Amino acid sequence: MRAMRIAVIGGGRSSEHEVSLASAAAVRAGLIDGGHQVLAVEIKRDGSWRCDGKDVSLFPGPGQTLLGAEVVFPVLHGPFGEDGTLQGVLETLDVPYVGAGVLASAVCMDKLVLKQLLAYSGVPQVDHCSVLERPWRERREDLLGELKVLGLPVFVKPSRLGSSVGIAKATTQAELEVAIESALAFDPRVIVEAMATGLEVECSVIGTTQPIASEPGEIVLAGDSDWYDYKAKYTSGAMELVVPARISATAIERVKALATQAFLLAGVSGLARADFFVDGEDVLLNELNTMPGFTETSVFSKLFEASGMGYSQLLDRLVEYAIERHRSEANYKF
Ligand SMILES: Nc1ncnc2c1ncn2[C@@H]1O[C@H](COP(=O)(O)OP(=O)(O)O)[C@@H](O)[C@H]1O
Ligand SMILES: [Mg+2]
Repeated sequence: MRAMRIAVIGGGRSSEHEVSLASAAAVRAGLIDGGHQVLAVEIKRDGSWRCDGKDVSLFPGPGQTLLGAEVVFPVLHGPFGEDGTLQGVLETLDVPYVGAGVLASAVCMDKLVLKQLLAYSGVPQVDHCSVLERPWRERREDLLGELKVLGLPVFVKPSRLGSSVGIAKATTQAELEVAIESALAFDPRVIVEAMATGLEVECSVIGTTQPIASEPGEIVLAGDSDWYDYKAKYTSGAMELVVPARISATAIERVKALATQAFLLAGVSGLARADFFVDGEDVLLNELNTMPGFTETSVFSKLFEASGMGYSQLLDRLVEYAIERHRSEANYKF
């Protein structure tokens, strides 16, 4: 692939700011290794954009991009970065960018919307109910009655976040009420899920219209967390990735097939990490992350490495997909 001028955006306004800075630094290093010229753009917690110590100005219009970049690589996690808002800015600038577009980013960020969309096509998922803020305030007892079908324990999550922030496992009715109140501080829409059994298995996917799935890997908790919480995700040594996942050949094939199916159904392009619960031959999709953690040692890259694709090669592929998608979308009338 020829050397290109690529702007890598990291940071962002969400609670995943620091995680994003680590991912963006790794992506920049990998692109430089691949011979590219890289611009480091940082979105500060307050939302300001900076590059080389200067404020970044955006100039939408013919011949303009972002700082003269041929491709933009947004490496942001969570709200205001992975949720379609930044993707909208990049569409406005008419510059090719890595990863999912506006709609798919927004859909995958929203656990309730994604679950509904995938359920429509019969993708197997854990049972869940939604709790919306207003009905919760007005008729809490009714809602608690409806949630009984899920049994206990349940997982309670804000509809739109990541890195396990705002998520709680509730094992009693009292904990459930506290967990819903806490999740409502993050989002007016909360999802309550029956607890899945089995192993947590993750599968990376890249591509555009014919996506390819990596070897699935298994998340093994090594610390004192009993589920994959923030601490288990970001404390060194608290999680071990086992590749390939220790599940049957049938379950492996099922994970890969569901990962690419979900990728296409959600309209994702570029990359995603599809996360599953696997119990025997039962495979349930948990979520799709359109900008998973992306350092060289993150699960996303490790799974492709185990499938024979190194980090720089993976980055080059993603840049190619970005250009391909930008070119193909320009062919449609609007
Ligand atoms: N329904 C569930 N059953 C069992 N464990 C769950 C369930 N939902 C979430 N978890 C646990 O919580 C973690 C984080 O949940 P997830 O939906 O992946 O949110 P995030 O977007 O923050 O990663 C999962 O990796 C898993 O360990
Ligand atoms: Mg997750």
